[in-house]
Amino acid sequence: MLAMNFRGPFRIRADRHRPMPEIKHPQDAILRVTRSCICGSDLHLYHGLVPDTRVGMTFGHEFTGIVEEIGSGVDNLKVGDHVMVPFNIACGTCPFCQQKLFGNCHESNPQASAVGGIYGYSHTAGGYDGGQAEYVRVPYANVGPTIIPDGMDPDDAVLLTDVVPTGYQAAEMGGIQKGDTVVVFGAGPVGIMAAKCAWLFGAGRVIVIDHIDYRLDFVKNYAQCEAYNFKELGDVVLFMKKTTGWYGADVCIDAVGADAAGDAFQSLVGRKLPLTGGAATALHWAINSVKKGGIVSIVGVYGPLDSLVPIGNVVNKGITIRANQASVKRLLPILIDHVMSGRLDPKAIISHRLPLEEVAEGYHLFSAKRDNCIKPVLIPPRATA
Ligand SMILES: NC(=O)c1ccc[n+]([C@@H]2O[C@H](COP(=O)([O-])OP(=O)(O)OC[C@H]3O[C@@H](n4cnc5c(N)ncnc54)[C@H](O)[C@@H]3O)[C@@H](O)[C@H]2O)c1
Ligand SMILES: [Zn+2]
Ligand SMILES: [Zn+2]
Repeated sequence: MLAMNFRGPFRIRADRHRPMPEIKHPQDAILRVTRSCICGSDLHLYHGLVPDTRVGMTFGHEFTGIVEEIGSGVDNLKVGDHVMVPFNIACGTCPFCQQKLFGNCHESNPQASAVGGIYGYSHTAGGYDGGQAEYVRVPYANVGPTIIPDGMDPDDAVLLTDVVPTGYQAAEMGGIQKGDTVVVFGAGPVGIMAAKCAWLFGAGRVIVIDHIDYRLDFVKNYAQCEAYNFKELGDVVLFMKKTTGWYGADVCIDAVGADAAGDAFQSLVGRKLPLTGGAATALHWAINSVKKGGIVSIVGVYGPLDSLVPIGNVVNKGITIRANQASVKRLLPILIDHVMSGRLDPKAIISHRLPLEEVAEGYHLFSAKRDNCIKPVLIPPRATA
């Protein structure tokens, strides 16, 4: 079959000769993929920042597909169902899944204390092949896959498997109170969704920070918020203090993660060498821009190593930090309702639609922020929906 194939950092190709996935366990399903996105998290793999990313792996954790085959233990799905598949691989029964912490499943990743299983996300996250392929194996198929509701646009459905729940959970973890000032670092797909969702929780003012003008223009319009280029602000933290009456923002969201720009030292130790788990520039700004007693919500992904974080300021300011992989399955019912009722319009962020054969071009466009790229979607040759 055709699938994305990782050959090493910045080297990706479409490979026509990947083996077809097979049922390995009674609770597996095989899906024929209908859509598959490239996520900002894939860029950390592409840039070589995630440990144990093995040559030959297929990435892709944001996908929809039609059920092609099911194992004997799958009773929630039938062949022909069109489903959206949360990026978290979750068993549904461990103590963490029981608390709906589906991103923290204790069974789906041999390195259970690190993170739950994630499709196509290195052996650090379980070593599962992902959905940037014609077909994909879905473990614990009774738990994750969710039938796409009648009338839902398939482009909206695919975005409900990662970026929308992640942006929503970023806002939710911020504990936003009515009228709060919320600052979102990052105007990528996740930051755009976080800004949009902040209003749903009652924010009174939403500010987005990035350094890519076309993304700032997009989010200003899409999320009806303020948007600033940090290169033009000078001292970002000072700007935040000034614009909040010197108190600081009520809530700051890090929707950037390990690949952050904006600080030469952080970029050197976190991205170039890399001696830390990524450049923590946006997190640094978030901690220093939030008010005393405020909340910093982190959805930006960092590697397992320590990063340069101003922990003294966290203590002295009494900041609450909340962070996690999004718990997609927990959030799907409410997000389906927001989409079907028109309060959220995820598909508007899709900027590029490429055949799976052009996966390398997709990564390049998205990584280099070329051609006003916001969110690329890959369409496999056999996709019919
Ligand atoms: N926690 C989760 O469940 C989850 C799920 C999906 C994605 N993520 C993570 O969320 C982050 C964003 O994902 P995305 O798809 O939007 O990625 P993206 O790479 O498209 O967007 C990141 C944006 O941050 C901007 N940026 C860089 N440095 C910055 C800085 N110092 N301050 C402000 N903005 C800065 C970039 O210009 C870019 O527009 C990534 O780290 C990704 O791994 C987490
Ligand atoms: Zn993702
Ligand atoms: Zn579990």
